[in-house]
Amino acid sequence: TVELSLRPTMLSQYIGQHKVKENLRIFIQAAKMREEPLDHVLLYGPPGLGKTTLAAIIANEMGVQFRSTSGPAIERAGDLAAILSSLEAGDVLFIDEIHRLPRTVEEVLYPAMEDFFLDIVIGSGPSARSVRIDLPPFTLVGATTRAGLLSAPLRDRFGVLSRLDFYDPKDLCMIIERTADIFNTSITKEAALEVAERSRGTPRIANRLLKRIRDISQVKGEQKISLSTTGQALEMLQVDKHGLDHIDHKLLKGMMNHFQGGPVGLDTIAATIGEEPQTIEDVYEPFLLQIGFIQRTPRGRIVTPVAYEHFGWKGRADNEPR
Ligand code: ADE
Repeated sequence: TVELSLRPTMLSQYIGQHKVKENLRIFIQAAKMREEPLDHVLLYGPPGLGKTTLAAIIANEMGVQFRSTSGPAIERAGDLAAILSSLEAGDVLFIDEIHRLPRTVEEVLYPAMEDFFLDIVIGSGPSARSVRIDLPPFTLVGATTRAGLLSAPLRDRFGVLSRLDFYDPKDLCMIIERTADIFNTSITKEAALEVAERSRGTPRIANRLLKRIRDISQVKGEQKISLSTTGQALEMLQVDKHGLDHIDHKLLKGMMNHFQGGPVGLDTIAATIGEEPQTIEDVYEPFLLQIGFIQRTPRGRIVTPVAYEHFGWKGRADNEPR
């Protein structure tokens, strides 16, 4: 499907994340020269930046199978054992949200990662015994929003740790043009830049916005997606000049209205606006921190003067709109 082909399949097609790509290219080449599996890789960073895509690319570049699962999907040690024992030599096993693996499963993973064997207890009570199952050598690619969410013993077993960062508008522009191409449509340079600047540095958001903009452009009968249609569409989608959406606004205004801009604790603000603390921390906060709209202090989060400026408020002193 078009949806699937949006994902690049080779490192050379993957736009942005230059440092991560440069490193992976060398590690992949070296592993292939030695005819060994690639060392285990941990990819971390905010959602939508291409961790899953990169994991699939690693498998493709290594010329091995890509097997994919997630932390919450593996409930028991036996689930993990079933997956690991079905791998073929060199395969890439991708575990998304790896920080959500149950602790008992995590412990089974340690010897599997380190020495490619499983120690499984079968039966219970007096008849319980432990069996050792040898595994084919494999590469674990784990993904998480923050490396700090992993336990130290798990984190230490990855040989390659790569952090994905928000994309700059130039790279996002290339991604938008590539996606437009795959959609068999075209977009003016200025319109692509506008989408790029309002996508919170995130390809997933850029591609989602582009789909909706394309709908509007198509209904208008445009040959090429124009800047004016793009502006109109983004307004309809309630995406502001910085790419902030309804929930970003709710978060910032909640802090400004109810806590004089902070400092306020994560759990308090989460309860006030009815969102999960973890979602705020993993999905919304990273970009707001990056653009300097909020800061973290030892006493909690604060809204910065730049954010007040963005909303046209004088500042935290009087909390009055201008
Ligand atoms: N689509 C989404 N992310 C991409 C990336 N980093 N490179 C190319 N195409 C993409």
